[in-house]
Parts: sequence; structure tokens; C-alpha cells
Amino acid sequence: MIFINEGHYPSFHLTNGKLSYIFHVLESTQTLEQLYYGAAIKPRDNYDYLIEREVRPSNNLYQDTHTTSFEHIKQEFPVYGTTDFRYPAIEIAYPDGDHISHLSYVGYTQLSGKHASNLQPMLRAGEEDAATLIIHLKDNYSQAAIDLHYTIYREQAVIVRRVVVHNHGEESLRLKRLLSMSIDFPHDDFELLHLYGAWARETHLERKPLIKGVQNFSSTRGASSHAHNPFLALVAPNTSEHQGETFGFSLVYSGNFLSQIEVDTYHVTRVSMGINPFQFDWHLDTGESFESPEVVMAYSSKGLNGMSQQFHDIYRQQLLHNETPFEKAPVLLNSWEANYFDFDEEKLLEQAQLAKDLGFDLFVLDDGWFGKRDSDNGSLGNWTTDLDKIPQGIRSLASNIQAMGIHFGLWFEPEMLSVDTPVYQAHPEWIIGHPNKNISHGRNQFVLDFSNPDVVANIFEQMSQILGSAEIDYIKWDMNRYISEPFSNFLKKHQQGELFHRYILGVYDLLDRIRKAFPAVFIETCAGGGGRYDPAMLFYANQNWISDDTDAIERLKIQYGASMVYPISTMGSHVSEIPNHQVGRITSLKMRKDVALFGTFGYELDIMKLSDADREEVRQQINQFNQYQSLLHHGDFYRLNNPFEAGLTAWMVVSKDQSEAIVGVYQSQASANPAYERIQLAGLASDQAYELLELDHESKDIPVRYGDDLMAIGLILNENFTGRADEYWGREKAGEYHSRVFYLKIKKDK
Ligand code: DGJ
Repeated sequence: MIFINEGHYPSFHLTNGKLSYIFHVLESTQTLEQLYYGAAIKPRDNYDYLIEREVRPSNNLYQDTHTTSFEHIKQEFPVYGTTDFRYPAIEIAYPDGDHISHLSYVGYTQLSGKHASNLQPMLRAGEEDAATLIIHLKDNYSQAAIDLHYTIYREQAVIVRRVVVHNHGEESLRLKRLLSMSIDFPHDDFELLHLYGAWARETHLERKPLIKGVQNFSSTRGASSHAHNPFLALVAPNTSEHQGETFGFSLVYSGNFLSQIEVDTYHVTRVSMGINPFQFDWHLDTGESFESPEVVMAYSSKGLNGMSQQFHDIYRQQLLHNETPFEKAPVLLNSWEANYFDFDEEKLLEQAQLAKDLGFDLFVLDDGWFGKRDSDNGSLGNWTTDLDKIPQGIRSLASNIQAMGIHFGLWFEPEMLSVDTPVYQAHPEWIIGHPNKNISHGRNQFVLDFSNPDVVANIFEQMSQILGSAEIDYIKWDMNRYISEPFSNFLKKHQQGELFHRYILGVYDLLDRIRKAFPAVFIETCAGGGGRYDPAMLFYANQNWISDDTDAIERLKIQYGASMVYPISTMGSHVSEIPNHQVGRITSLKMRKDVALFGTFGYELDIMKLSDADREEVRQQINQFNQYQSLLHHGDFYRLNNPFEAGLTAWMVVSKDQSEAIVGVYQSQASANPAYERIQLAGLASDQAYELLELDHESKDIPVRYGDDLMAIGLILNENFTGRADEYWGREKAGEYHSRVFYLKIKKDK
């Protein structure tokens, strides 16, 4: 997978038959030049034919040369301070106060699999799965060594990049900027696709042509955030869901990040991604190293779905925590929208018992069970049971619920502190904020300084007390405010620029300790919904609560957008109460189920209030999810119709062996006298006949259609009223919000 043309100035070609990534060492400067990234090409013994050097008015590195300007050489890992005037991947502040660097090639190492990090989340890579190339660079102006890591996977069109900097010198250096990757594409014939949002409307999709200059998406909030997801894709203008070139970039990081595109006046497009350099200032003392997070680069020549499937596969296989106490994906009942803070033990036991009777696997007690928390005014950081609400304590509640034959889960918000807690009384200095300046609250709470290991240890102790004393199989790990007034009372003056990164390393540390102490506990991460839906959280978690917006129609956009990067098996999705608590919309129980089905599937409503008929429907819905969950969570997901463009949304999942598929079609705009509607399916076996069953729909016969026919002509959604024209006017109207789910299975010859 890694082809190297040896010599003083070697070239490197990473390829797996699905993509090629080529760069070489430049003789004149001893630096790395990017040569090609795209569809797989055959390895050659020389790539000099890819070098492009026009003589352009510019600053050149050496006297009498006119082609040694870094501005005009496509860079593999650009530095600051010399002839490239674009934004660099690395910026080092030297003891003299200058920021001028030159990184020269020293050598390389190859290995099967990859090295692990014990500091931060990374994709796994078994020796059979992947190969890693490490390029060793040295800084000409200090004793810093810079290692660029490239891991190429055998099965997916994916390369993972990261960077490690070591300071071997006597003097300390400051890293002002260290991005995980940078790449220069030779043209700007791309459109830019990214995910943006806000609380309760996360992962909305935007696609725009590139413009000259700099465009970036970032977070300065201490979390990857609702505002921008750490993902972007460059897509050829003709790229659709099913065809065309797509380059996706996804950062395995939960803190302040930067994704940046810079198009220069020669149309070169530089993409770079990593920790946000804004407010970042890392002191690298003698003998110390700094590791960047990983960027996962996915290539597709088969459109956006092709890219997403690479991300889904690699994240399911090499990232997600797969150990769980459940035999299958658990169907959970979450107490939040049913109870908010208003509950007692009796109410919880009643709800859990009914949940068990309806077929749920897990009962989750959300916020409000600890300290004295009857509103969101206090008690965070006091992780002891509120005995007024739960007189027998969590241990007894958990074992009573487990005794019913249903698992029990509990909500925490480990990173936060309220002022009415013993921890705050003892350690007011443990919150982030300057002691002599105003400290803003968010939802009446303050952020614990997780850069301080004592803080992490305290919260670990408190959480382990609860988790160790009771039968708790699931944790919902919430985080409901961003970091403002960033100042740590623990860090030294010169380390304040390290706070955001050290904070997130502290969060990883706590997650890691919980994982090690309770390996099988199922974790659903959450940050006021999707405020921290990123690959790094998924390294520790089994799933993520992706939005507090549980409205079925709004969820179409949120889940559609999120599926660009994240597998639907990670998307916390619930059937909730109507009128919906976020938008007041009324949709049928069926439609709410049909949307949540293409996610983790759970419920968040007061089941005690359901009519007998609705209870029966819920029971059927849970059975239905259980029947199709393996297909839904392990198959290939295809987006078919985009809710950002049309009133009809559609998506589907096809099993890896193409023997079965499930299709969801959702209408969010009714129209009288409608046009013809057909949905072209994808991913089916062309020559196979599929039985087409509409779920929740009685039908006398099951139609059979061929795969090629379903993909070329499509699923026909209009009815045929031939001979029944008189039924047309009196027919039952579908209504504004309407959904249909189809199950397809290859017809077996009898
Ligand atoms: C925000 C979460 O996203 C909700 O699901 C719920 O857990 C609340 N916090 C509880 O405070």
C-alpha cells in the first residue's frame, strides 16, 4: 500500500486501489511537495512528470533561483515565515521572538497498523487493516523534530493523518499553530460542503462554490459545537449523491478546531484542518512532544454517498466503542421530555414497568436525580442521590428496575459545577474564569477546569461511587454550556494558551478512566443535543444524542446532514410527545417512528399517558425496529432525496450482501393534484428480483421488482386508479406529514 521510490529525494505513493496520494522530497529545498491526491493510479518509478514550475514574480529561497518559491510549490506541510504567504500548517515561536521555520526531510519509517496514542482518541488499525508511513522532518532552525503520520487502510478509500512534534533542544519552543494536515490541490474547480447549525437545529447542510481567498469554519467555544461540525468536503461541481469526485475531511477532535480552505490567485486550493490556532499557545519544553489529533480523509468517485459510506465503515469498524451490555442495539425510554425535573421513585418505577411490558430494553433516568435539582438552577457536581425524590437511593432504584428485566441508565453532566455544591464551597477556584473578572454563567452553571488533574480525579471518584454501587448499564454524558472567560487558576501564566486543549484532554482522560473502570457501560454522549457530535466523542461512546429537537420533520434535515459523516447507528433518535416540545408540530406516531427508525431508535415521552391503542402501536414499533436493526445499523446508508431542497425526503439502507434493503420516504409538504413522484433507489443488485413490502400497510399481494428497474425507474409513489376513478375523490388524504417505509428482500425461487 505504500510505494517508495528510494534515493536521496524519494517519492511516496500511498494507494489501495481506491485512491492515490503522492508526494516527494524536493531536491532544491529538501522539503515536501504534494503531487497528487485522487482516484487510484498505478505506482510509477518516477513522478517528476507531475512537477509544475512556472517562473513567477515571487520571493525565492536561494540567490539565482526563480523556481524555489514555496508560494508556487504545492506544499505537503507548509511552514510560516518564508516564501509562502498563505496560511501554514505549523507556526513555531522561537526563543529570539521570530517565527521563521524551514522543515527539511530526514527519513521515513514504515509499519503495519499504526502507533496508538494514550492521550487522545484515534482510529484503530490492525496490522492486517492498514499501513503507516511516518515522514521525519527536522527544523533547520531548532532541535525540533516533526513527524508526519499517514495511515492508509486496505478496505476503505481513507487516509488518516496526524503530526507529532518533539523538542530535542535545550530551549523551550512555543507552538502557535499545529494543524493535523494540509494539502494543496492544483485547481479550485470545487464546491464546498459543510455542516452548520445551532442548538436544536444541528448539522444543517450547506453547499457553495469556492471563492478566492480564505473561508473557514471553526470553534472557539471549547467544544466542537452546534455551530460547525469538524467536517468539510470539497466536491466537483457535477457531484451528486451518487456520482462525481468528493474529498471529505473529518477531524477526530472535540475542542476548538479550524477547518480552512484557502484559494490563491493561481487557483490552488489549500485545505487544512486541526486544533484552532486562535488563542492556542503551547509551550514545548526540552524533551517534550505534542501530538495533533487525527484527520480522516475519505475519497470518493461515487458522489457524496460514496464518501459517507467510507466514513461510516471506518468509524463503525475502527473508531466506535463496540463493547456493550446489550445483545443488540438497545431500544431505550428516556425520562427527560416525560418528566423533566418532576418525578419521584414511584413514578419512575411505574414508567419502567410499563416500558418493560412494551418491550423496551433500557430505562434512562435523565437530569434531576441528584443533589437538590428541581430546576436547572443547581447541584451539578454533587453526584449524590436526591433522597427526597428517590428515598431508597439509586442503588435500590437500579436493582428494582433491573429486577423487572429491563436495563437501567443514568444521566451525568460531569464537566459542570453549580455554586450550591460542596465541591464549589471547597474549591471555588476549580471553575474556569478569572477571579478578578466577571465570569458568565450558561444555564446557571460553570465549567470545571478539566486542565487540572485533581478536578478530573474528584469527578471520577464521584461517578465511580455511583456506577460501582449500582447496576447501571448506560450513561448519558451531557455538557450544556460553552467555555467563556477562559482562564485557569491551575495553569501557570505562560500556560493559559494551553487551556482549551488541556481541558479537552482532561475530558478524554475522564472518559478513558470510566471506560477502563466500567468497560461494558454503554455511553451516549450529548452536549445540549449535538454540541459535541464528533468522531473523538464516538471513540468513547456507543452513540450520541444529536439534537434536542425531537420533531420528526426537523429531524429529517438534522439526520440527513449528520449522515454525511456519521453512521446512523450513532444518531440518538427518539419518538417524542406531540405537540412536539420544540416546535409544537403534530405528526403521527407512525411518522415519528419512521424517522427515528433510521437512527438508534428510542422514545422520550410519558408512556403512562398513551392510550391502549398507542401502547399497542409502540409495542409493534419496537418489534419492527428489532426485526430490522441489524440491517439498519450494519448496512450501507444512501441518501436519496434531500430535505434541504425538496418537500420529499428519502433515504435507504442496503445490506452489505445486497440481499435486503429498507427505504424511508417522508413528505413534509402536502399538495393537491400532485405531480408524479418516483424515488430512484441505489445500491441494489441489478439482476435480482426483490419483493417489495410496505411496512405498516396491509396489502394482498407483494409486488416484485428487479434491482435495475428500482434503480433506473424508481419506486413509484403515486397510486394507480385505473378502474377505480370513483374512489379518487373520497380517498383518505395523506396529510401534510406523511411517511412510508419499504422493506425489500431478494425473492427466493420456490
Ligand atoms: C440537554 C440534553 O440534550 C437533553 O436531552 C437533556 O438531557 C437535558 N440536557 C437535561 O438537562
